[in-house]
Amino acid sequence: MTTLPGALPLLGHVPRFARNPLDFLASLSTHGDLVRIKLGPHTAYAVCHPTLVHELLVADRTFDKGGPVYDKLREFGGNGLGTCPAAEHRRQRRMIQPVFHRDRMPDHAQVMCQEIAALTTPWHHGQTLDVPAEMHHLTTAVTVRCLFDAGTDRAGFPTLSSSFGALTTGFTRRLMWPVPAVHRLPTPANRRFERARLHVHRVTDALISDRRAAGADDDNLMSVLIGPDADGVSLSDTEVHDQVLAFLLAGVESAANALSWAWHLIGTHPDVQTRLHAEVDTVLAGRPARLTDMESLELSGRIVTETLRLYPPDSLSTRTTSTDAVLGGHPLPAGASVIYSPYQLHRRADLYPDPDRFDPDRWQDIDRPPPGTWVPFGGGPRKCIADSFSNILATLTLATVAARWQLCPIPGRTVRPGGHAFVVPKGLSMRLHRRPRVCLTSGSVA
Ligand code: HEM
Repeated sequence: MTTLPGALPLLGHVPRFARNPLDFLASLSTHGDLVRIKLGPHTAYAVCHPTLVHELLVADRTFDKGGPVYDKLREFGGNGLGTCPAAEHRRQRRMIQPVFHRDRMPDHAQVMCQEIAALTTPWHHGQTLDVPAEMHHLTTAVTVRCLFDAGTDRAGFPTLSSSFGALTTGFTRRLMWPVPAVHRLPTPANRRFERARLHVHRVTDALISDRRAAGADDDNLMSVLIGPDADGVSLSDTEVHDQVLAFLLAGVESAANALSWAWHLIGTHPDVQTRLHAEVDTVLAGRPARLTDMESLELSGRIVTETLRLYPPDSLSTRTTSTDAVLGGHPLPAGASVIYSPYQLHRRADLYPDPDRFDPDRWQDIDRPPPGTWVPFGGGPRKCIADSFSNILATLTLATVAARWQLCPIPGRTVRPGGHAFVVPKGLSMRLHRRPRVCLTSGSVA
C-alpha cells in the first residue's frame, strides 16, 4: 500500500481534492491499487483496482456504511435504505425491493412516458433550454409519481431540485471543513443550506401526510412504508420520513445529472447524434418510445452506459471497516474509512482505451463488464435499488426526445463538471431545434 505524497500539515490532501475533485480522484490509481490519503486529521484508504472494489462492495458487513460521511448524511437525511448499517439493511431492502421488481416496470414506464410528454409539450423551436433544470423537473415528477403516487402540483415541489442542489453543496462543505461553529454562522451560504434543509423536510412531511390521509391501498413505495410489514409491524413516523427523504435525494439528483450529461455528450458528438436520430426514426417512426422498444433502442442504451462511464453521477462513496479487515492482502484496522470512486475506475486507460473519449460503440458486444470495472450504480448488496428503473427512464427519455428534437450546444458556452459528491454539468444550456416529422406509415422523413 502506498501513501499519497504531498499532504499538507493539518489539512492533508483536502485542498487538492477541493480544488479539483475529479482530477484528484482520477490521479489516484497512478499511485497504486490501494492508496492511503489524508483528509484533514483523518486517514482514508482509496481503493483503485476493480478486483479490490468488487471485494469491497460484496463484503457489506465488513465494509459497512458508517464513519464521518455517513454520520453527517444521517444527521441531515436520517437513517434510510442508502445510509443504514448492514445490520438493518437486509430487512429494509427486502421490504422495498418489490417496488423495483421487473413486473412493476410497465407501470413505472407508463408514468415516465406521460411525464416526458408533459415536459416536452411546451418546448418550441429555437428555445434555449436549461437542460439540468428540465431534467431535474422530469426526474422529480417521475420519482414522486412512481414511488409516492403523488402529483407535483403541490406548493414547494417546483423548487425542490434547487433545494437539493443547495443541500449537496452545503453538505460537501460540512464534510470538508468539519468545524460545526463555522457552519452555524449566519452567512448567506449557511442560511441557504438551512432554508433548503427545512424545505426538503417540509415536502417530505407533506408527501407522507397526503398519503396517510388517502390510505395505503396500493403497492407503491409510500404504501409499503406506511403499511404493516409481513410481521404486522409498521415503521415509526421518523423511519417513514427518513426513507422518503432518502429516495427523494437519491432518485432526483443522480438521474437528472446523468440525463443532462447525455444531452451534452450527444450534442457535442454530431456523428453519434446523427446515428441516434437514424435509430429512433427507424424504431419509433415518429411515436414516443415505450418499454417494449428497449431492446431495439440499442444505440440509445449504449449512450446511457457510456455516459454513466464518463460522468458517473456519484463520483465517490465511502465505507468503514466494522472490524479488522484485509483488502487485497493489505490489513486495515477496524474503523478505517475506505473510499471507492466510479469516476476513477471508469477513467483507467488499462480498462478503457482512450478513456476520456465518448464512444458508445465500445459497449457493442459487451454483455456484462467484468466485476468492478463499470460501477455507476455501485455493486453488491448495496447496489442502487433503482438501476433498471433509471436505465429505462434515461433510454426512453433520450429516444422520445431525439425523435422530435435536436439539442445543440450554444457556441462559446463552456460546460464543465462541478459539484463534489455529485458530478454536475455546470453551465449547460442548449438550443432546441425541431426535427422534421417522420412519416408514420413509411418511416420516411417528411
Ligand atoms: C442514473 C441514476 C442513478 C445512479 C447513477 C445511482 C447511483 C447509485 C449508487 C452508486 C449507489 C450506491 C452507493 C454506494 O455504494 O454507497 C446507489 C444507491 C441507491 N440508489 Fe441510486 N442511482 C441512480 C438513480 C436512483 C434512483 C432513480 C433512485 C430512486 C428512485 C435511487 C435510489 C437509490 C437507493 C435507495 C440506494 C441505496 C441502496 C441500498 O443501499 O440498498 N437511485 N445509487
